[in-house]
Amino acid sequence: MRHLLDTVSLTRAEAISLLDIAEEMTLVSAREVKKLPVLRGRTVVNLFFEDSTRTRLSFEAAAKRLSADVLNFSAKGSSVSKGESLQDTVQTISAMGADALVVRHSGSGTPHRLAHTGWIDVPVINAGDGTHEHPTQALLDAFTLRRALGGFPASGAVKDGPRGRGLDGAKVAIVGDILHSRVARSNVHLLARLGAEVHLIAPPTLLPWGAETWPVTLHYDLDEALSGVDFAALMMLRVQHERMHESFFPNEREYSRLWGLSASRLDRLPAETFIMHPGPMNRGFEISAAAADSRRTLILDQVENGVSVRMAVLYRLLTGQEDHNE
Ligand code: NCD
Repeated sequence: MRHLLDTVSLTRAEAISLLDIAEEMTLVSAREVKKLPVLRGRTVVNLFFEDSTRTRLSFEAAAKRLSADVLNFSAKGSSVSKGESLQDTVQTISAMGADALVVRHSGSGTPHRLAHTGWIDVPVINAGDGTHEHPTQALLDAFTLRRALGGFPASGAVKDGPRGRGLDGAKVAIVGDILHSRVARSNVHLLARLGAEVHLIAPPTLLPWGAETWPVTLHYDLDEALSGVDFAALMMLRVQHERMHESFFPNEREYSRLWGLSASRLDRLPAETFIMHPGPMNRGFEISAAAADSRRTLILDQVENGVSVRMAVLYRLLTGQEDHNE
């Protein structure tokens, strides 16, 4: 593995190996000194052309826990606003010394371009490109689910965690704005690869063209889907207004009434169904406060696990090693 650009090209073995390394990393994060010296003297550059809170901080925390130096670039306030091209921006930054680039960009395919044009020669990690993919989010979701469904604590250090396993047979639903969601695309591919049964629940206007060719079951009515299938987990998605240039549903109240995880829908779910959300959440819209704060939510576990998963990805790409055992 040279880059991490998507989940569609990850094999089951590669995905499980990354999740297993992440299990090792949770042990590091539980120590008083949360550091490993493995990337000492290496520089990880966070190149963010789109807004982010958790993903950028999570990559920064991950790189620092592996003792790497971190340079943070955000397009806002940079020479991008003076017209500097992507090529010049990237080459300028890598001239300062970069051993890996973590890239978020509104253009689908930008990380692939950086990895393959020859402008730079370092591992590229996709931290979200347009409506295409967000592989580390899907990996942290899979990590969290593998823990929770295996009967382990959903986050934190676990010495003998669910290593070596996939998500075989788990029924997972992704609900809402699939059309604009790179999280959904990365999850569809990874969950399917790990053996889960993936269901997409969305209004037809918010499903991408061609979704019927994906390895998923499609539902166009949330209540019908929830009464027909006992899901192991529901992944609620944010409605991405910033990517919407036309009207995809009548109004917010209508969306929330038909597609939101309300308190009453939450009450009707089987007691063991977990609730997930990649964040940022729109409370009271796609997810009620009751659901966001309920005992069965894994939302903060997802954030915590994100650091271990990103440590695993950086470790794997920058050292070339497949496992980390001290
Ligand atoms: C997501 C993203 O940016 O793709 N957030 C995240 O990285 N956790 C989802 C979103 O913006 O709704």
